[in-house]
Amino acid sequence: MIIEPRMRGFICLTSHPKGCEQNVKNQIEYVKSKGPIDGAKKVLIIGASTGFGLASRISSAFGCNAATIGVFFEKPPQVNKTASPGWYNSASLEVEATKAGLYAKSVNGDAFSDEIKRQTLDLIKADLGQIDLIIYSLASPVRMHPKSGVLHRSSLKPIGKTFTNKTVDFHTGNVTQVSIDAANQDDIDNTVTVMGGEDWAMWIEALKAENLLANGAKTIAYSYIGPSLTEAVYRKGTIGRAKDHLEATAFEITESLKLLNGQAYVSVNKALVTQASSAIPVIPLYISLLYKLMKEEGIHEGCIEQIQRLYADRVFTGKEIPLDENGRIRIDDWEMRDDIQEKIAILWEKATTENLSQIGDLAGYKQDFLNLFGFGFEGVDYLADVSEMVQVPSI
Ligand code: NAI
Repeated sequence: MIIEPRMRGFICLTSHPKGCEQNVKNQIEYVKSKGPIDGAKKVLIIGASTGFGLASRISSAFGCNAATIGVFFEKPPQVNKTASPGWYNSASLEVEATKAGLYAKSVNGDAFSDEIKRQTLDLIKADLGQIDLIIYSLASPVRMHPKSGVLHRSSLKPIGKTFTNKTVDFHTGNVTQVSIDAANQDDIDNTVTVMGGEDWAMWIEALKAENLLANGAKTIAYSYIGPSLTEAVYRKGTIGRAKDHLEATAFEITESLKLLNGQAYVSVNKALVTQASSAIPVIPLYISLLYKLMKEEGIHEGCIEQIQRLYADRVFTGKEIPLDENGRIRIDDWEMRDDIQEKIAILWEKATTENLSQIGDLAGYKQDFLNLFGFGFEGVDYLADVSEMVQVPSI
């Protein structure tokens, strides 16, 4: 079939298998161009199919030469209906890893469930024995709690009072005011249950209980802080409470891994266009301004540049990992530079529908959004007839 983008709000209903393949190949080339990393050799990535998790899988495989198991929740294709992009990304990742002589297998299903944990543990036991790095990169709006059976929904709301600020519809470029009502306690609790650290700790406990963690194993989950401009809806909102919980969980996991000399970390990453972040009000406008400034300064990074740098300059240097005063790894250092944030604050005040395409990088935002679904890549013939029925080899 000939596959075109069909946009609906924050999502695109179609994805392009060849474009997703190109995306994965471009990321692999980037990692290889930076040279080998003396890092982990057997890696489990939870949330491995898109965004930071995919970049972590690629950095592990093609930077560290590691065997990887990826867990994700993606839709396989049906006749005349494309798969979700993470499916095609993972298919290409496995094909490229196999070509390079690297082990790569995947598990598709709900990572919050006992069943998918069981399946993953069995795969590790059968194929890898023990793992030395676990990346936790889930972003999900819902979680069915494995013990209570309750379906929790996360929300993206301010806490305390209604938040009103500018936002942009990145499809049309319309800058408008958005008001988001304050969360109630249930919203906060549910968001913490979905995006906090409980499930991360459950994964590590399950791995530990079955002796699947190597001595000195590390685990890293991803967090975000961002500037005061977005803090009412992000860091001081419901999602921020979940990130506080995730960050606190790192210390608990480290404690539980003491006998194994293991360590849990949170890495604070940069704001980037992913399926998760495009759904958060206000953030797309912030990202449009941020991209413009970071590109002008020559310090713009995508997921792959971020994670390659996280591995090469922070985690696998052979030296102690540098942490901030709250014990977190910071790879958002360039985003948070004073000069960048001062300029964004000025541009934020000025931003309107009329001027955003000049003062911000709306085109870059849109390009990245299209890329998430495998569209807009150079070297891909989008007029060609392609098969949507691509399989992930190990599934
Ligand atoms: P994403 O939407 O690109 O990736 C989410 C991944 O989770 C995908 O692999 C998806 O298949 C998987 N997933 C979702 N629900 C699942 C489930 N129930 N079972 C199994 N897999 C499931 O998201 P992104 O942006 O890469 O986020 C990953 C982490 O990075 C999140 O914790 C996010 O808060 C954090 N982060 C994101 C930033 C951003 O600007 N995008 C900035 C800093 C941190």
